[in-house]
Amino acid sequence: TAKTPLTGKRVVVTAGGTRERIDPVRFITNDSSGKMGYAIATELQQRGAIVTLISAPTKLTVPAGVQLVPVVSTEDLASAVVTAFEDADILVMAAAVADFKPAVSVDQKIKKTADNDQMTLELVKTTDILKTVAKVKTSEQLTVGFAAETQNLIDNATKKLREKHLDLLIANDVSQPGVGFNGDTNQVTILQPDQAPIKTKLASKRLIAQQVVDQISQRVQKEG
Ligand code: PMT
Repeated sequence: TAKTPLTGKRVVVTAGGTRERIDPVRFITNDSSGKMGYAIATELQQRGAIVTLISAPTKLTVPAGVQLVPVVSTEDLASAVVTAFEDADILVMAAAVADFKPAVSVDQKIKKTADNDQMTLELVKTTDILKTVAKVKTSEQLTVGFAAETQNLIDNATKKLREKHLDLLIANDVSQPGVGFNGDTNQVTILQPDQAPIKTKLASKRLIAQQVVDQISQRVQKEG
């Protein structure tokens, strides 16, 4: 294949929804199918990048030529990302990461009892992976985040771009039909610190991945 700005670049992509255990038979998760992240991994691999896909559980097949690192919880994902990021040029965080996890995860199945009509599950914050990465990121490394929003898309996403020291932020308004979790389509706005927002049309996740990777590729070309 022809040489591209991404040829030989080491890229870490995350995908899927993390799972936080409550007890041996129950967990908390979200609607992420992994499709968006897998489409990005596929596109990057086809442009010559060396792709490591760190994936929470999904029903998808690993794209050809991509190295899979399977994870389950947010803390697993955090440590896999921190390790892989050490020798990476680019990180793309498409995974839907749990913001909270059960304060305690118990070894035995939680029982229903006759005298309890209610139960309270205490949750604590998980590690913010992109904020952790921001602390060790060098000027040669590029980080790409996503923002799944249901209101004030651009305001909330711009805040994430800044707070997580990202080079690109892919914002999707997941309250809109055909956008975000689970389906085969998406519509995103690509934010960058030094550029006007780029709003894509509603299209297949494969086509959205191409447009996202086009922007990553352009930044790599400019900076390299
Ligand atoms: O998997 P699909 O079904 O194809 O759906 C695609 C998608 C909707 C999951 C994807 O397009 C998407 O938006 N992924 C990010 C979901 C998310 O966790 O967004 P957020 O706005 O809560 O988080 C912002 C960013 O911080 C994300 O890049 C996230 O990976 C990251 N994050 C979040 C929490 C945390 N503890 N650590 C993080 O690094």
